[in-house]
Amino acid sequence: MARRMSADGYGKIISIVGKPMGLDVERIKADFPILIEPINGHRLVYLDSAATSQKPRVVINAILDYYRKSNANIHRGLHALAERATESYEKTRRHVAQFVGGVDPHEIIFTRGATESINLVAYTWGETNIGEGDEIVITEMEHHANLVPWVILAQRKKAILKRIPITVCGHIDLSSIEDIITSRTKLVALSHMSNVLGTISPLAEIIAVAKRHGAVVLADGAQAAPHMPVNLTTLGVDFYAFSSHKMLGPTGVGVLWGRRALLEAMPPFNFGCEMNREVRYDRITWNDLPHKFEAGTPNIADVVAFDAALTYLEDLGMENVRAHEMELTKYAIEQLSAIPGIEIQGPQEPEQRGGAISFTDPNIHPHDISTFLDSKGIAIRAGHHCAQPLVRTLGKVATARASLYIYNDQGDIDALCDALIEMRKYFGV
Ligand SMILES: Cc1ncc(COP(=O)(O)O)c(C=O)c1O
Repeated sequence: MARRMSADGYGKIISIVGKPMGLDVERIKADFPILIEPINGHRLVYLDSAATSQKPRVVINAILDYYRKSNANIHRGLHALAERATESYEKTRRHVAQFVGGVDPHEIIFTRGATESINLVAYTWGETNIGEGDEIVITEMEHHANLVPWVILAQRKKAILKRIPITVCGHIDLSSIEDIITSRTKLVALSHMSNVLGTISPLAEIIAVAKRHGAVVLADGAQAAPHMPVNLTTLGVDFYAFSSHKMLGPTGVGVLWGRRALLEAMPPFNFGCEMNREVRYDRITWNDLPHKFEAGTPNIADVVAFDAALTYLEDLGMENVRAHEMELTKYAIEQLSAIPGIEIQGPQEPEQRGGAISFTDPNIHPHDISTFLDSKGIAIRAGHHCAQPLVRTLGKVATARASLYIYNDQGDIDALCDALIEMRKYFGV
């Protein structure tokens, strides 16, 4: 048995190699200063991590430390501070590469978030590789970040946008996949885990069909990367996008991973300093990867602090994070289902989904649900979750969504369910 414990006590999982273990949530909660912040006179029950996660003390301190001890611009200065800042920034890049399965750090591009990562692919790879009559395939459960760029690209290029449907249970419907992905398909862009339904996409099956037709596959990992182990050396996708802020890191930092050959063939996204090698009035040559895609001064402090978030998650162990959330999701679905009127959207089986749990009450609007819960200190999200077409497909105008993470426990679910029961009495339903 190996115990990994850091100096500031944030590695708090006892792990036996190969066997997921439960998380010590009480100790994890103590690492998140915001969780003692009273909200409307109550203890904060934070169930909105699919929107953004809270930050542990080590991440907050890393931002302060950077500005106190290392602040300088990167990749240009020759003085000691500039070298220190550059090294810290590049250390995070190497760490990200390791975190997602040991890919080549040159294939890790820092962006502002998953949204920008996907736009980068749409504007560079898409601009070069999509033409009139080509097909782009998405699914019916996409977040706008992995939908709008493809709608716009298809319109711009007179390409055809096709959708893989979902079943009534919220799984991806593979029954007509052979008709949807064809020899005209150039790109399949799909969410790895849905932010509304929690559904985990059957990537292997879809990738197999896409590859048979020579299509490129982009997975939106914004909800998967924070919650389950992701190994990009075996997953089979060509591009993968995710955001730091949903996985304990700061806002304003995203990651795009792409296969080197694809990235090298793509034109730059933004133009300016550091993305070029030689600049003349009539001729410019591009810098090597990853710098070709990182024009200007990036979000240095937050990239540097993202390193601490990755270390925190690694110390817990992503297998353990996934096991904890599966167990808690099972409990939450059981408890919510027991409340009369509450209808849960998406798969019921915890192995096939993550901990973003959308639910509705036929008599109470999700905004009222959220407002009532907020009065009890419980933070959930209500609305269309930036997935309007999906919510329409579900036959809803909006849903309420409780989303779980490492600092949630059964007590949080109990608080949610007690408040929902009280709410139904309050509204007289
Ligand atoms: C599935 C999914 N994709 C993409 C995004 C966009 O992430 P960001 O806003 O960090 O760019 C989100 C954010 O909620 C998401 O849930």
